[in-house]
Amino acid sequence: MTLGPTPDTRIALGRSGLSVAPLGWGMWHLAGTDAAGARLRVEAALETGCQLFDTADVYGYRRGSGFGDAEALLGAVLRDAPQLRERMVLATKAGIDPRVPYDSSPAYLVAACEASLRRLGVERIDLWQIHRPDLLAHPAEVAAVFERLQAAGKIRAAGVSNYSAAQFEALARHVGPGLASVQNEFSALVIGGLEDGTLDAAMGYGAGVLAWSPLAQGRLVRTPEEGGEPARTAAVIAALDTIAARAGVSRSAVAYAWVMAHPARPVPLIGSQNPARIREAAQAFAVHMTREEWYRILVAARGRPLP
Ligand SMILES: NC(=O)c1ccc[n+]([C@@H]2O[C@H](COP(=O)([O-])OP(=O)(O)OC[C@H]3O[C@@H](n4cnc5c(N)ncnc54)[C@H](OP(=O)(O)O)[C@@H]3O)[C@@H](O)[C@H]2O)c1
Repeated sequence: MTLGPTPDTRIALGRSGLSVAPLGWGMWHLAGTDAAGARLRVEAALETGCQLFDTADVYGYRRGSGFGDAEALLGAVLRDAPQLRERMVLATKAGIDPRVPYDSSPAYLVAACEASLRRLGVERIDLWQIHRPDLLAHPAEVAAVFERLQAAGKIRAAGVSNYSAAQFEALARHVGPGLASVQNEFSALVIGGLEDGTLDAAMGYGAGVLAWSPLAQGRLVRTPEEGGEPARTAAVIAALDTIAARAGVSRSAVAYAWVMAHPARPVPLIGSQNPARIREAAQAFAVHMTREEWYRILVAARGRPLP
């Protein structure tokens, strides 16, 4: 038997009524090009079958400036080509204020959401996520913000990012319709989500899972020496390459397939900003990974055998 979704699989984002295709595209590194260049990337992601488009208000920020730049660039693309909007489930995030660094107080979050809407030039955000937990915000307070923005029609669904399983559960209990999603780091190299309970919590609550940095910020496609932990990285790369050679696909395609094979149905957020490499991700559906192959990659990632 093989594991993982097909291109036609639709993954429910909690009880929000939203569902998405198995692959998504991320805009962490979108800023820095112009609207025409950004549009080529957006169109490549749509052609690849990505539906979830993930940005954040802080994307583009660097050394004191650029906050909002990635959202503004996507907004420019959508102004030039408004027909693209209906083909995407538009996700953004708020709650990182680099001066603080985290703020999930009601006043900050409401103002941040309104600023994102203005930059994106849309009336409603489909999935609005708290980027990182603010340890000084009570979950009930954050849930009340979700309710207020939903009632005002400014967001359709609410999710979180970089929350522990306990933080996710504490907030989910206060959110009437439940949390739609959790976005944490997950890849064949960064496997904490398998052991820290976050993937289990998401499955328990029926929330969607968005996997950030599915290539470990590119470490899985560079040489093992470049990213630290060369022995462990080399072992994971070797395990991925064995399957890539068998399936006749790229290593990155196998890495995406490994993420998608988990039963929480994590949606890999493709980070590439290169249209050809974005399109290459569709090869992930040609990888018919067996249970044995999936566990072989896990053992390489752990750096020690399974119990
Ligand atoms: N919630 C959070 O805190 C958080 C944190 C980090 C990321 N994210 C989300 O996750 C998304 C992806 O993160 P990421 O950029 O770190 O993703 P990634 O897929 O792990 O890494 C992408 C990097 O790998 C490079 N790369 C080199 N060869 C590649 C190949 N053959 N195929 C694909 N990529 C290749 C890309 O460069 P090229 O562009 O030149 O291809 C890019 O720099 C972000 O855009 C964001 O939406 C969220």
